[in-house]
Amino acid sequence: MGYTLNATDNYHIKDLNSLGWELTVGNALYPENSPCRSVLQTKASFGVHLYRFLEKLIDFNEIYNILEIGGGLGYLMHDFLTLNPQLTPTMLDISPYLLEKQKEILKEFNVNFLQSDILKMEMNAFSAYDLIIMNENLGDLPALVPHGTYISDPQDDAASYLEKASYFKQKYNIPFAAQETINIGALTLLENICRAKVEYIYLSEHSCEALVPEFLKPYINIESSGTPEKISLKGHNEYTIKFSYLQKIAQMFNYNVRRGPIADFLPLDFNDRLCATLRLTTPFTAEQEIIQQFVHDLYKYEYMIMIKDGK
Ligand SMILES: C[S@@+](CC[C@H](N)C(=O)[O-])C[C@H]1O[C@@H](n2cnc3c(N)ncnc32)[C@H](O)[C@@H]1O
Repeated sequence: MGYTLNATDNYHIKDLNSLGWELTVGNALYPENSPCRSVLQTKASFGVHLYRFLEKLIDFNEIYNILEIGGGLGYLMHDFLTLNPQLTPTMLDISPYLLEKQKEILKEFNVNFLQSDILKMEMNAFSAYDLIIMNENLGDLPALVPHGTYISDPQDDAASYLEKASYFKQKYNIPFAAQETINIGALTLLENICRAKVEYIYLSEHSCEALVPEFLKPYINIESSGTPEKISLKGHNEYTIKFSYLQKIAQMFNYNVRRGPIADFLPLDFNDRLCATLRLTTPFTAEQEIIQQFVHDLYKYEYMIMIKDGK
């Protein structure tokens, strides 16, 4: 079995000039009049919901240096800094376009900005941070995609990532199946961060292991194959994330792991109106369509919070 490497770095560095078509949950919830806010129990932005959830698990009095990787338009950090101005954040992003957007929205705060591919960052550099945030970006990192006939050239990136995959298989007892796409970039990054002993780590992404709770089964359908699924987007492809492999790595590094759908911290106001909207096979309005997609995303995206043992 050969593999090809799915990579998005060139796209993010050279071609990305809008996030509009890739509507992240954070961006969907940011405008105060967003229809997505109307279906939540608390009508607030994503960063506010996440901060309020994290502060139940993390003592923010112990958090100063915070790294956000791939912060997109910067909304999440804007919310965090508004709620907690004592944070000293670094925003690292591969995209020069998005980094400029972040500088603009965060201009009233004291923030460090770094343009870099996160996989090129020295592992030691992570140890400077108390908390690392990775929201909706692990799917952008390289993935090894099975490909029947291709034999990878020992010089190319796929070959070195393949070696890395056999290392993960042995070291963490990860049972990659023959036809399985491997989130090799996400595994590599999380291992680097855990090795650096960062005390608190948060990540979220499309999951290939997402489940719909019983009460929602009549209303939404989420297909999760259990192995990373391709998502085709403008100019690049991403892959959903196999969270159980990330969990194994974090646990081997003695992190306590909490994992679930992002709906855990974005709870729905599950009323008759919402049920009626979700039941529509063909939505009548753009707003109904947006809400259907949003509710789907609340359960298709998983989060994982990792807290170093002893904290
Ligand atoms: C889908 S966007 C998510 C943006 C934001 N976190 C949100 O939730 O709205 C992915 C982000 O990750 C960044 N990114 C992708 N690959 C990266 C890499 N290799 N290193 C650093 N940042 C990366 C993108 O430029 C972008 O900011």
